[in-house]
Amino acid sequence: RGGAWGGAPMEVAAMGESRVVSRAEALELGPGWRHACHALLYAPCPGRLFGRVPLRHAVLMQMRFDGQLGFPGGFVDPRDSSLEAGLSRELREELGPGAAPLSLAEGDHLGARFAETPQRLVAHFYAKRLSLEQLRALEEGATKAADHGLEVLGLVRVPLYTLRDGVGGLPTFLSNSFVASARQQLLQALGALGLVPEAELRRADAVSRKGL
Ligand code: GTP
Ligand code: MN
Ligand code: MN
Ligand code: MN
Ligand code: MN
Ligand code: MN
Repeated sequence: RGGAWGGAPMEVAAMGESRVVSRAEALELGPGWRHACHALLYAPCPGRLFGRVPLRHAVLMQMRFDGQLGFPGGFVDPRDSSLEAGLSRELREELGPGAAPLSLAEGDHLGARFAETPQRLVAHFYAKRLSLEQLRALEEGATKAADHGLEVLGLVRVPLYTLRDGVGGLPTFLSNSFVASARQQLLQALGALGLVPEAELRRADAVSRKGL
């Protein structure tokens, strides 16, 4: 498996509280570690809320069966020929047949986090930019996914703005419950991809953690 999953070292992203390692480093962990892959899909979004607040980008997350927010994706199984093959299978299961042409690749890997508990798990994180038309087509097809209404209760867009009260929008969204390291992955990606200015991101993070 190591051979099939090998590849060039990827850039190691720095933001977030847990240590982020490259795809190649994560694959060197050896047996005894399960791997999971999740993806942030986003598209430039020129619209304005109330004709005033720039939406910036459309970023997709999902409400999960357990009531927590997370990204589409899942466990990589022995049947998957690579991390990315596992990811694309999971995206088809969770987002429907419209996800088939997405083809996320090694180059879309943003970083991996690992945790010893509750089980040894490496969480790989990917991001892919789509056109708004592609993203809207995914949203429209998502109710046809095998997992819709079961493991996936619905897709949501992440509000990337902060409203005039300083709380509504991204700070309030960040105060939801997120599965595993999904909240850190979101913050890392929004910064690294330049979807939200770093200062605004840090402020939203702080406001949401202080309690609204
Ligand atoms: P099953 O095949 O039915 O078990 O579900 P799945 O393969 O879709 O797995 P799922 O995505 O629910 O979770 C795989 C592992 O990753 C679990 O340990 C989750 O707690 C964790 N997880 C789920 N979503 C995310 C996410 O968005 N980010 C991170 N970092 N971990 C996640
Ligand atoms: Mn799944
Ligand atoms: Mn999943
Ligand atoms: Mn699965
Ligand atoms: Mn499943
Ligand atoms: Mn599951």
